[in-house]
Amino acid sequence: MPAYTDRLLSLPEYPLAGIPEKKRELIARGVDVIDLGAGDADLSPPSVVIERLSEAARIPTMSRYGFALGLVEYREAVARFMKRRFGQDFNPLKEIIPLIGSKEGISHLAFAYLNKGDYSIVPEPGYNSYLGGTLLAEGICHKYPLRPENGFLIDLDKVPADVLKKAKILYLNYPNNPTSAIAPTEYLEDIVRRCKELDILLVYDNAYSELSYDGYVPPSIFEIKGARDVAIEFHSMSKTYNMTGWRCGWACGKQEFIAGLAKVKSFIDTGTFMGIQAAAATALDKCEEWIPTNVAEFQRRRDAAADAFSEAGFPVARPKATMYIWCPLPKNIPSAAFGERLLQEEGVIVLPGSLFGPGGEGFFRVSFIVSPERLREAAARAGRVLKRMQATPGDDARTSRRPEPQGMARA
Ligand SMILES: Cc1ncc(COP(=O)(O)O)c(C=O)c1O
Repeated sequence: MPAYTDRLLSLPEYPLAGIPEKKRELIARGVDVIDLGAGDADLSPPSVVIERLSEAARIPTMSRYGFALGLVEYREAVARFMKRRFGQDFNPLKEIIPLIGSKEGISHLAFAYLNKGDYSIVPEPGYNSYLGGTLLAEGICHKYPLRPENGFLIDLDKVPADVLKKAKILYLNYPNNPTSAIAPTEYLEDIVRRCKELDILLVYDNAYSELSYDGYVPPSIFEIKGARDVAIEFHSMSKTYNMTGWRCGWACGKQEFIAGLAKVKSFIDTGTFMGIQAAAATALDKCEEWIPTNVAEFQRRRDAAADAFSEAGFPVARPKATMYIWCPLPKNIPSAAFGERLLQEEGVIVLPGSLFGPGGEGFFRVSFIVSPERLREAAARAGRVLKRMQATPGDDARTSRRPEPQGMARA
């Protein structure tokens, strides 16, 4: 049989790949598993959205191919949302494109903008479709470590000049997964200015724009002056409306950027089921008052998770946004060993920072996607594992860093 392509072989193992199997084994052994792995809450979408989907499923035309255009009602609802929420006008037909989840669009965009050997600048730790899209397009990732010392922000002035010269894409994601960091407005202004100077496309991943707390309101990159010239922004129905499995999102930006992505997609997919686009339009148009009630539930979970994990020995502040806490580990505790022992000994699934690349070492990610009671229970179990590991230092000294996949450069 033909061998896999170099492209495929350059991909690391996907961080969540082995988890469902491990989880099934533990459950089969009767373990009370608490899964805080994926950013996938145990909450329902709004009921009007479910009703709209069931109505739409009975309309025969909804079952036909959506193609790139999709449901115009959805495009128009997105345009109304962008206007209402961020004060930004977009032409629904030319400056918005429906996606099969934002992950799909983020990954595919690289095919429109990266030639073989071009660089993208990728946050590490960061969402894996930046890396995946780049490597599948035979580009090279320049990984920039997001660390507490740099406020989890990428400083382009610290990227080597030869990389900047060949860089075509900068991926930014604030509110950030997994660190839950937010970006100050002045930082975004500076980044937009630098991307313009350097002729780099700013891919702004705004999947968590509606999941914020304590009065913080995440901006759209398009609220920053000049961003229209350099940025494309990705949004998701998944987190805002508890619709992760529905696979629906959008990208918006100037016509040229959207047309590039649309062309790639037209050879790869035929659009999300239009019944789902209809339901998503209902979510965008009719659920403005539902969102704060959902965010309030996430806030209860955030408070429980941040407080309980802090008490358990992982000092972490309550984040201003997202559904994650990025918990620090003591220096001598490798994150992969900690994650494995927490899973095997206590049945709690978290994501070790090293799964997001070496830059994530020293941390683990908790998704606050279950009830406060379960989060407190998970934190108590994590605290027990930490104590045991600290009582026998050296046992887990091995780090479990993956070999660096080909085609990557590090900051
Ligand atoms: C930062 C970030 N971007 C994009 C996505 C993809 O979301 P979806 O494809 O469900 O719209 C996720 C999902 O976890 C994410 O964390």
